[in-house]
Order: sequence, then C-alpha cells, then structure tokens
Amino acid sequence: MFSSTPKAAPHACARFGQRLRVSNHPLVQHMLVRLRDQTTPPAEFRRMVRGITNLLAVEATAHWPTEPTQVTTPLAETIAQALVDQVAIVPILRAGLGMADALLELLPDAQVWHVGLFRDEQTLQPTEYYNKLPRSLACRRVLVVDPMLATGGSAVRTCRLLIERGVDPSAVQFLSLIAAPEGVERLLSEFSDLHLCIAALDERINDVGFIVPGLGDAGDRQFHT
Ligand code: PRP
Repeated sequence: MFSSTPKAAPHACARFGQRLRVSNHPLVQHMLVRLRDQTTPPAEFRRMVRGITNLLAVEATAHWPTEPTQVTTPLAETIAQALVDQVAIVPILRAGLGMADALLELLPDAQVWHVGLFRDEQTLQPTEYYNKLPRSLACRRVLVVDPMLATGGSAVRTCRLLIERGVDPSAVQFLSLIAAPEGVERLLSEFSDLHLCIAALDERINDVGFIVPGLGDAGDRQFHT
C-alpha cells in the first residue's frame, strides 16, 4: 500500500529508508487530484484533506501495540484488542486543523496540543503565535500534522518545542499531505528517530517558498481566505 521510495526526486530522500513513507494507495492518489486542482471548492478540499489523512493514519499507526480487553457484546463476553498508548495529536495551525479533525474521528480519546505558527512571507521563517502544549507531555504516541512540508521550518520548530518539553523523539510521527524534498531533508536530518508519512513528495519549493506543483496554500484553501 505504501512505498518508502518517493516517486519524485527519488535520489533526494531515499537515504531515509523506512523513516519516510510515501503513499501510493490509489485512493490517496485519486483524492490528491481533487486536492491539487485549483478549481476544487473549500468544502470539497476539506473533505479531501480528511480522506487522505484517514488513509495516512491507517499506515502510520499500523505498528502501534494493542492489548487484550474484555468486552461484553449483546451475545457474549469476549476479548478484543485495544490500543495501549495514550495519543496526542499536534496540529500546526492553522492548516493542520483539518487533519486533526480527521484523526480525532479515528482516535477520539486523543489529546490535542495546538501549536500556532505562521511563515513570514519574506524570510520564510516560522513565527510562533500560539502554544497550548499542556504541562505534562506524557503521551507515548504523538502525531504532528500539517498538510504542507515546504522548507521544513515550521515542522522543525514544532518538533523542537515538543522535544525541549520532554517528549521522547521516538514517540513523534509527522503526517503531511504534500512535501518538498528540502523539507523532508531538513526534518528527518534534524530528528534521527522521527518518522514521516506523506501522501506525495513533490519536485521542489519555488523562490517564494511554495511547493511545486503542490496545491497552493492549504490554510487558505481550507478556510476560504
Ligand atoms: C504553511 C503550512 C505549513 C508551513 C509550511 O502554513 O501549512 O505550516 O506553511 O512551510 P515551511 O515548511 O516552509 O515552514 P502558513 O504559514 O501559510 O500558515 P497557515 O497554516 O495559517 O496557512
């Protein structure tokens, strides 16, 4: 279902091996068509964000441990498998919100730790404007979500915030819809335990910091701004 070998620029990120997973699932590819299309309206765009995130989440969580749990059905008592670890979802505002909504449907007991960053249009450096990390960051599974991984500045800043506050780097998984090789390089080079799961690895970022071919601005397209 997933390939660790990116389709675009395979030379650039192949060295990260299994730490980089690029979906080649046909449903993901199909939804990416609508996500990229400049004529796709915001409501459909948001649906595509949720749909692709669901499929990425299935892959990203496939190795998570479960434990036997007793449950009583209308007919009998039985043993079923439940997730072991407490989960936190970290949406990078604002574009990460749509992905977080999708994950919460799958993981309704997850904590949500909001981090607000925006990129300066000139310098492309992230500026932190909101930080709702709780006092205790004790979750064993931390899913950071942002649809776009361009220069990697926002992703790196967010992961640093988490790790500086005591999150185990090996607990962090980053989910993104479209990534540029530059951002993948930067994120996976800085955090040697981190795993990244994406729907597409695009060609490059342009001179104003947009992923090409990309989809434009995922925040603007979700929130119609
Ligand atoms: C976009 C995107 C990422 C960031 C990616 O957010 O959602 O957070 O830029 O760029 P980088 O990898 O070069 O840091 P933006 O700053 O446009 O804010 P928004 O989510 O509010 O639209």
